Amino acid sequence: MPAETRRPLISGNWKMNQNHYEAIQVVQKLTYLVGKDDFETVDVSLHPPFTDIRSVQTLIEADDLRFALGAQNCHSEDKGAFTGEVSPVFLQKLNVSYVIVGHSERRELFGETDAMVRDKVAAVLRNKMTPIVCVGETLEEREAGTTMDKVTKQVRAALEGCSPAQAGSLVVAYEPIWAIGTGRTATASDAQEVCAAIRSTVASLASAEAAGAVRIQYGGSVKAGTIKELMAQPDVDGALVGGASLDPEEFARIIQYRLHEPSEA
Ligand code: PGA
Repeated sequence: MPAETRRPLISGNWKMNQNHYEAIQVVQKLTYLVGKDDFETVDVSLHPPFTDIRSVQTLIEADDLRFALGAQNCHSEDKGAFTGEVSPVFLQKLNVSYVIVGHSERRELFGETDAMVRDKVAAVLRNKMTPIVCVGETLEEREAGTTMDKVTKQVRAALEGCSPAQAGSLVVAYEPIWAIGTGRTATASDAQEVCAAIRSTVASLASAEAAGAVRIQYGGSVKAGTIKELMAQPDVDGALVGGASLDPEEFARIIQYRLHEPSEA
């Protein structure tokens, strides 16, 4: 499947920011800034904290907005004695479409392993939502030249147990850890190199068709000024945006990357 047939996906990961009142304001502001034409060419998902999801869902549905609802995490089991966890079944009931799985902050700060990520991918798929599986290397790994080994291993684990069709339905977010929240972005050609390697890993683990269909995002300090060049790469199909997605004007400009003048890139 050629790059032009994959619909770009721009996702806003709000992390642990915005209470539910603030979330509503951000979505309302975005609604004025992002128009029908934008949604013709780009999918946009919003990933508020769990406590905001119901409020954002109500707004999206009442006003028939085209933002897709997303979550930042979920548990791998549907129900049970897991105090403090959130079931993928509950997310599905709120019409959540995309669930971020294995974000580096979850891996590094909350001890999520490749096996946990694999089980969460299965849980999200079982509940008819789309996982956004995050992979990426630390600065030490990049400097040691082990980026591809690390990322390939993470993709391999995430795809374990996926059918080729399921593999093709995933979103993979390549997020170099050293670029997250630091203001440092991988160069577009570095991002392309790793995203191409992710696609060929999917080809060898699943099928050529799955590799053609899987959408690969870049994440890590994406801004309005860097998005156009990233999106011009053949294997970059979207972006997972943290800090810049908290500012409706900046996020809208990221969503509208195709309208930027070359000088803005
Ligand atoms: P950032 O975060 O855009 O603030 O670097 C990206 C992410 O962690 O998803």
